Amino acid sequence: MSPQNKQNSQRKTSALHEKTDKYTEFVSRGFGKDLAKRLGLPQPAVLRRYTPNGPLVQGPILVLGQGAGADAVAQVLLDWHQDVRRHATPKEKLGAIVAVLDELEHPDQLSTPMLALGAALRDLNKNARVVTVSRVASISDAPAVAAARNGVDGIVRSLAKELRAGATANGILLANDIAAQAPSAVAALRFFLSARSAFVDGQFLTASSAGSTTAPDWDKPLNGSVAVVTGAARGIGASIARTLARDGATVLVVDVPAAGDHLAAVANEIHGTALQLDITSLDAGERILEHAISRYGRLDIVVHNAGITRDKLLANMDAAKWDSVIAVNIASQLRMNEAFLASSDFANNPRIISVASTSGIAGNRGQSNYAASKAGVMGMVRSTAPLLSERGGTVNAVAPGFIETDMTAKIPFATREVARRLNSLQQGGKPSDVAEAIAFFAQPQAAGVTANVLRVCGQNMVGQ
Ligand code: NAI
Repeated sequence: MSPQNKQNSQRKTSALHEKTDKYTEFVSRGFGKDLAKRLGLPQPAVLRRYTPNGPLVQGPILVLGQGAGADAVAQVLLDWHQDVRRHATPKEKLGAIVAVLDELEHPDQLSTPMLALGAALRDLNKNARVVTVSRVASISDAPAVAAARNGVDGIVRSLAKELRAGATANGILLANDIAAQAPSAVAALRFFLSARSAFVDGQFLTASSAGSTTAPDWDKPLNGSVAVVTGAARGIGASIARTLARDGATVLVVDVPAAGDHLAAVANEIHGTALQLDITSLDAGERILEHAISRYGRLDIVVHNAGITRDKLLANMDAAKWDSVIAVNIASQLRMNEAFLASSDFANNPRIISVASTSGIAGNRGQSNYAASKAGVMGMVRSTAPLLSERGGTVNAVAPGFIETDMTAKIPFATREVARRLNSLQQGGKPSDVAEAIAFFAQPQAAGVTANVLRVCGQNMVGQ
């Protein structure tokens, strides 16, 4: 098969696996568009998703900011062959705006860059990007410095709610004295600018150290690495496996024996291998390690995706429902991580990425067991980070909101319709949106990004 045919067939295959939201398609053109406008109905945009060899952004990038950080970021974008502007040209359409605010010392300093940003917003193309680069506010900062830095949080979250037509606003937070052009900040910038972050809106990524200095391969960032994905027979897990394989990783997929046929199909499709395994088994971590080392001689990336729901109001909860959710969603991850961290085979810049949920952040009626497990995942990730740092590794979580999967297709129509529209992008996300965020955390260039919880939820109105 020619490379072009192979690419087209890959695109078709992944499109086949993703459920489409018929309403979003209906209101995106012609009669449906007019009708939605007249009736004041939500008008979600068709989001641009990542395709290899596609453009990074659609149009010139305006870099705002006067300091050395802004100059350095502009240079990075030029090195990526982007069309960069340092001042807005009236009526010129823009693909993105990057506001570099790394030198803020007082909230008074927000006015000039924010008014310049505001003036350029009308010129944004569809699916445009706004990205801020600023510093983490900490209790050791002078009050005015912390006020200015924290102000950026309010700006990004409000701006994300203001933008339309598939445009998003997100921010990068630099810890300590990390430079705006440090590799980890640059990796986060590229993720937020690209179509890989289509369903990430109103969120921040923190670069806690400068990260890798090896030359990046942005098209195949995971070349040569070996990954394991649990719960990969279907849904989000299958999409994660496909995305990591697309980015160059060799992938070992894990699921329960009952899902064996689907699991084998996923493994065949991505030229990986399947391991039928219940992750609640006491030796699950050791079995995954043994499989990865005997086949491939290494294990670099662990994605804890397998998860279950057993919803009941707490007043009606029974032990079986409570215990099974805790066992699958969090206790298994704790036990497997112990096995991985005890092994010298998982010691070369390893990555762990866990799938959490916005239910674990905002809570959800009838999901006290599930929310306990998912909030638990976030707690585990933060306190595991120092253990990974010792090996040059990272651990992060991705918290999906409403994602179009078999799980959410079972929600009754009216409830589902409300749940999927209740975010700034007015639609549900796709499994690939979660997968792209996970693939970002797995990249060598993201070596300085650890202990983050990134929501992939279109800025769901519940929670932060
Ligand atoms: P799914 O139910 O479609 O797939 C989960 C997979 O995990 C299944 O293939 C299942 O067989 C496997 N699995 C379950 N228990 C297992 C065990 N003990 N050992 C090995 N494999 C096991 O779920 P979906 O929607 O793809 O969700 C994936 C992850 O994303 C879960 O952790 C879920 O909690 C999370 N999530 C999903 C959201 C959504 O909107 N679909 C929203 C937020 C989080």
